[in-house]
Amino acid sequence: MITPETAYIGCRFFFDIAALYLWGSSAYLWLLVSASLSGNIWTRQYWFQAIAIGCTIAATTLALPFRSAILSEDWARASDFNAMLDILSGTTIGTAWMCQAAGTAAIFLAYIAAPLRLRAATMTIAAGFLLTSLAASGHAAMNTGWLGALHRGNDIVHVLAGGAWVGALIPVAFILPRLSDRRTGRDAAKALVRFSTAGHVAVGVVLISGVANMFLIIGGLPLDWSVEYQFLLCLKILLVLSMTGLAIFNRYVLVPKLSGRHGAVAALRIGTVVEIVLALAVVGLVAWFGTLEPVAV
Ligand code: HEM
Repeated sequence: MITPETAYIGCRFFFDIAALYLWGSSAYLWLLVSASLSGNIWTRQYWFQAIAIGCTIAATTLALPFRSAILSEDWARASDFNAMLDILSGTTIGTAWMCQAAGTAAIFLAYIAAPLRLRAATMTIAAGFLLTSLAASGHAAMNTGWLGALHRGNDIVHVLAGGAWVGALIPVAFILPRLSDRRTGRDAAKALVRFSTAGHVAVGVVLISGVANMFLIIGGLPLDWSVEYQFLLCLKILLVLSMTGLAIFNRYVLVPKLSGRHGAVAALRIGTVVEIVLALAVVGLVAWFGTLEPVAV
């Protein structure tokens, strides 16, 4: 039988993926893509957004019952409203859940109520708030005082930079075929150059804030592989370095070939899809090890 812990890791995975995508794709379309192309790509992502918002609502709704079952090591507590009320009224887990629920309501409202021309802007702000709610729980909340504030601040910078990189990969995959279109080709080329420029900053910030997270939580390098957390963190770092290598290849080998051979667009699209798959594995790993003890006890 699936344990409450495993069910909760599943919730974290779907929530993190959805929030990273909604923030990163909206921020990119709002800030770095021309209005006409942005509106076109926004509409083409309709199903991705609908699924992401569905995942966020489901993951947030289920997270509280799963936490209740984890805390009392009993699935029966997943339907015990008094136990959940106790969590909500008196624990940091409860406060973090309420932040997450407020963020989920905000993205839902942005999706159904914002005028089309303001959708990307409002979704960026709502999804950004949703992502910052991650810093209210987990290891980011393990320190107090100035160190606690520094840790939470770093975690927020980490997930926003990570989302700016991996969340924008989906609209980029939609924009690539527009390069060969006479009407949108110029805007598409500009949007890709801007992604790659902003991408350098996002990759740099996510790597530095990731290392800072590591030192804040483990106090050093993850070299004790008898501790599952540290082994899984090393796997994550390996995958992120592979993604970085692929991003550099895409940018410096394939992009220069875009104006010449048509095969370069197809190759770049495959490279982007491979990066998306690696990003799914990266978030899967952190959804898992973020629930484990970081050092030997
Ligand atoms: C594509 C790049 C990356 C993405 C998308 C990403 C994403 C994330 C996410 C979503 C979290 C969870 C935040 C939470 O629940 O509070 C996280 C936490 C973390 N990340 Fe990353 N990350 C990336 C790269 C890195 C790198 C390169 C490192 C290390 C050098 C790193 C180290 C960490 C650590 C130590 C945590 C804290 C986990 C915990 O709560 O114990 N990350 N990351």
